[in-house]
Amino acid sequence: MNKEKVLVTSALPYANGPIHLGHLSGAYLPADIYVRYKRLKGDDIIYICGSDEHGVPITISADKEKVSPNVIIDRYHEKNKAAFEKFGMSFDIYSRTSLPIHHKTAQEFFKKFHENGLLVEKKSMHFYDNKANMFLPDRYVEGTCPRCGYEEARSDECEKCGSLYEPQELLNPKSKISGDTPELKETSHWYFPLGKYQKFLEDYIQEMNSNYGWKDNVLQYCKGWFKDGLKDRAVTRDLDWGIKVPLPNSEGKVIYVWFEAVLGYISATKIFSENLNKPDLWKDYWQGKDTKYIAFIGKDNVVFHTIIFPAMLQAWNENSETKFILPQNVPANEFLNFEGKKFSKSRGWGIDVDEFLELFPADPLRYTLASNLPENKDTDFYWKEFQAKNNNELADILGNFINRTFIFAGKHFNNEVPSRNELSEIDNKMLNDLQVYPRKIAELFENYKIKDAVLEMMNLTRNANKYFNDSEPWVTVKKDKSICGTTINICLQTIYTLAEIFSPVIPFSSKKIFSMLNSEPTEWLSIGINNLKVGHKLNKSEILFKKIEDDVIQVQLDKLPSSEIVKEKIHEISFEDFSKIKLKIAKIVSAESIKKSNKLLKLKVELKNETRQIIAGIAQSYSPEELINKKVVIVSNLKPAKLFGELSEGMILAVENNTGKLNVLEVDENIAIGTDVR
Ligand code: 2FM
Ligand code: ZN
Repeated sequence: MNKEKVLVTSALPYANGPIHLGHLSGAYLPADIYVRYKRLKGDDIIYICGSDEHGVPITISADKEKVSPNVIIDRYHEKNKAAFEKFGMSFDIYSRTSLPIHHKTAQEFFKKFHENGLLVEKKSMHFYDNKANMFLPDRYVEGTCPRCGYEEARSDECEKCGSLYEPQELLNPKSKISGDTPELKETSHWYFPLGKYQKFLEDYIQEMNSNYGWKDNVLQYCKGWFKDGLKDRAVTRDLDWGIKVPLPNSEGKVIYVWFEAVLGYISATKIFSENLNKPDLWKDYWQGKDTKYIAFIGKDNVVFHTIIFPAMLQAWNENSETKFILPQNVPANEFLNFEGKKFSKSRGWGIDVDEFLELFPADPLRYTLASNLPENKDTDFYWKEFQAKNNNELADILGNFINRTFIFAGKHFNNEVPSRNELSEIDNKMLNDLQVYPRKIAELFENYKIKDAVLEMMNLTRNANKYFNDSEPWVTVKKDKSICGTTINICLQTIYTLAEIFSPVIPFSSKKIFSMLNSEPTEWLSIGINNLKVGHKLNKSEILFKKIEDDVIQVQLDKLPSSEIVKEKIHEISFEDFSKIKLKIAKIVSAESIKKSNKLLKLKVELKNETRQIIAGIAQSYSPEELINKKVVIVSNLKPAKLFGELSEGMILAVENNTGKLNVLEVDENIAIGTDVR
């Protein structure tokens, strides 16, 4: 198989506050898992990140604490770097944008654009706070979004609907410094001709999407901006914190933070190369024709990585001998919420990474977040779910399987890998799984479906436990030790496979498992059924995952500010109301898909003396064949309605699991059709 050359970046977090779990799920953990997998596959990959240390977020924090911005960035750069490390992030470099190489790189880009006549100086109106005597940066002004009406929109960008607009368009502006209504005053700034690149960008995104499949959420955002039409963007600001505009007579002006932060990926790669004493190495990645560049970000950063950064790189390429590559994919995630609400430092809602890792090890957190990544929709972190993932999956399924196998190998086979003898049907099935799953998981990783890959890892572990149970080694060890040896050999090969495929997700535990196996990971595609030789000596085993008790979780729940806890509003109904709903058991006798709808299925169900047609929105969870003969619960007295032109005479009850799959509620065969459900 061909080895790929891959450049991976994660959004550079602002060094103005600690990293919380939401950040991890958005742009960091998925990238780290992907990178760790690619390294095991043997690809040539580098993973770049660092602190974003300019811009208004930093000056706001500095103003609040009445310290210089330098104090803030030094503090949070170190703090975040350490938290990431403890969490197991495997960056090849964690750089920072305050370094001289970065300033130089950003100024080079700026000068290149200026020299080639791309930047145009324009006078424009900006908000000015007369009390504070200063031009107000975007984030110092709050108002109502001219597009969607969101009341906490920034002066040129709405967090809610993602639109970008001119400050003049903002409704009801207020200065965040003095609280006054700011005045619009003339200043002059350099503008980058984003509009000029619209056609190029549309073609670029279309080509990348058709070759590499971009995520729908990302494409939707891009479509929105193209529809509005890309406008020229001011790329300088009136601020004294940032990278100086490298032109004469530009005192007090800095390069707009977003116009340089994205270049931080390049400057960080330069430093990475210098650290290796190979100062030109960075070019292999950024300018190598065969390199693919993947930018991991959260949804709030999409425009900068799919539109502004590619336009900047293209502008450079058009005016230079050297050519940069553009992102091949931008697998942006939605947001992770915390116990049902947005993370909020000021309201005390959420938990920072370093705080979390004081209480619990990194792997259970990595596993919990990875199996619930907001890849297609916002998801939530719940303490109870964290406990369940640790106790019921890592400890009871993965840990238990490893533990019982090691106990057998120690007690009956002298801690050595026994030989494999005649194979039964279930032995063959388990061996087959060991070959199929690593490939299946690799394919999911290659398509950035990290969450699904993690679910498959646990599915393989479940199969392994079942295999152990069905093989009954505690029986065969007494009857025919060679059969028991076969089982334990296969279980040990399975542990090897699990240690490797899980290693991108739970690297600390995986390392321990390899040490227990007295072995090392192999290249991903060599994972199989013979990674441990017969007679190979095993090391001592240890318990990998400690159970988390209820009271430990309760302590965390009790810390949540009670004023913030969302109480589910329960609208009570009388028994009389409830008894109006007639729930009955019905049998599905036919099912077919509905043309033009990928969600609906047309079902025929049998009640006592009648057959009805029900249109159910379960096509993404069931194939029509799977449903035949299921006995399900229906609402039998729902007023008939037409859906997609088809009559629906009832409703089937179903619940959604944590992966979004619907499960219809079923009863067993002994219950007669037409029976009332009470
Ligand atoms: O949203 C943020 O935290 C930004 N600091 C991300 C910057 S990504 C890139 F431009 F560096
Ligand atoms: Zn809006």
